[in-house]
Amino acid sequence: MLKRLLIASSVATLLTAAASAQALTVGFSQIGSESGWRAAETSVAKEQAKKRGITLKIADAQQKQENQIKAVRSFIAQGVDAIFIAPVVQTGWEPVLEEAKDAKIPVFLLDRNITVKDDSLYMSVVTADNVLEGRVAGNWLVKEVAGKPCNVVELQGTVGASVALDRKKGFAEAIAAAPNVKIIRTQSGDFTRSKGKEVMESFIKAENRGKNICAVFAHNDDMAIGAIQAIKEAGLKPGSEIKIVSIDAVPDIFKAMQAGEANLTVELTPNMAGPAFDALEAYKKDGTIPPKVILTESKSFGPDSAKEQIELKKGMGY
Ligand code: AHR
Repeated sequence: MLKRLLIASSVATLLTAAASAQALTVGFSQIGSESGWRAAETSVAKEQAKKRGITLKIADAQQKQENQIKAVRSFIAQGVDAIFIAPVVQTGWEPVLEEAKDAKIPVFLLDRNITVKDDSLYMSVVTADNVLEGRVAGNWLVKEVAGKPCNVVELQGTVGASVALDRKKGFAEAIAAAPNVKIIRTQSGDFTRSKGKEVMESFIKAENRGKNICAVFAHNDDMAIGAIQAIKEAGLKPGSEIKIVSIDAVPDIFKAMQAGEANLTVELTPNMAGPAFDALEAYKKDGTIPPKVILTESKSFGPDSAKEQIELKKGMGY
């Protein structure tokens, strides 16, 4: 009898533990769908949530911080167990994060960082070292041109986004030691293909129909792909006459490499939600406080890896 009671009570404990783990609900304020990478990040987040039995509520902010703030407030009102935010810009988060803190809802930042005086306003940020990513791109270019003069045009990401600021900084640091490599034009292409193309067209027009341009540094692959189209339409050869270096490692940039039209990409994993869910689950289980910054890897890939990478990416939300 006692044995039966003990079994029943351990089964009940197990069921309660499973139920409470499954009962987690997370609100995710996603920026939008500006790039192939962003779409992959969203699908990986959904897959990761499903795998863990977590209910994930996604709000698409359509690139607007005000929409993100509204979404966070709505998640607080719904009493979710945690909030994930991919912050479109770096500043302006204090008031809403104070509200989340007052409601005792842990906040995790995905892929972009913020600047706040009090970093207890969020639990962790899952991100790559974006200064390093810019530096890797710049170092590659300096080596590639081997002392020859090289005029670079830069397609920046969204104005005010931490990743755009950091990638710009890292690239500038890398080329600082090479006076032959100069940024002659820089403008935001908003991380989109269409804007990347439009801005590149204006750079080409302003720079002797593109003939003054030696390389494009694009803060993401989608803008690089837009730039490649603009270069081809101007009758020039991307990848050879104008070098293309960018960030993300989406399948389309590898296809461009296979066509000889792109040179290097620095990978940003779309799996930002997985490490955040790991940290959240550990915190909910026994109060484990995760590291403030959970860093993801930044490897670079060139045309030699294109075929293999296209295959690998199939299982990564692309
Ligand atoms: O924050 C990550 C950046 O946002 C990606 O590099 C870019 O593609 C996306 O839009």
